[in-house]
Amino acid sequence: MADWEELERQCRECTRCALAEGRTNCVFGTGSRTASLMFVGEAPGAREDETGIPFVGAAGKLLDLYLGAVGIARDDVYIANILKCRPPQNRDPLPEEQDACIGYLREQVRLIRPRLIVCLGRIAAMRLIKPDFKITREHGVFFKKNEFTLCAVYHPAALLRDPAKKEDMYKDMKAIAALLASEEA
Ligand code: URA
Repeated sequence: MADWEELERQCRECTRCALAEGRTNCVFGTGSRTASLMFVGEAPGAREDETGIPFVGAAGKLLDLYLGAVGIARDDVYIANILKCRPPQNRDPLPEEQDACIGYLREQVRLIRPRLIVCLGRIAAMRLIKPDFKITREHGVFFKKNEFTLCAVYHPAALLRDPAKKEDMYKDMKAIAALLASEEA
């Protein structure tokens, strides 16, 4: 079991899948390492690959707006992705890429021990909550798995494509903030 420094070093030097060849930066994760709330997205996009920081592109800006709207500071949460390297043309992560990379996220969760893990979008929810997760039906629902509480919300990129989903996203983010403010999670 690695500590933060060792885990980040291993991740930055990782060659477990072919995505390592195309990366500018490994996007390890960012934020508070003592966070109660952890967000997990799918994989870095172009801006994230350039900067090495998750959710800094258009989708990330929208995520920041929702965090602000429900009174959560980005610095107080931890943000990571299932994949640490960008897939070409932002295609969906392949199962073998997820299998190669998921150990880094597991270690991040083990080190942080968040009260609540929020999956951003279907891909993270299918990997972390259940393989048959249906985002349109099950967004905003809280699940208990081992000692963790998990839920999923729409991926911010989906909100950019379909603004009609924004109302649900705001409701879900308010429920997440309320759960964290309570003793329940
Ligand atoms: N989309 C993701 O799923 N993760 C990022 O870091 C950026 C966009």
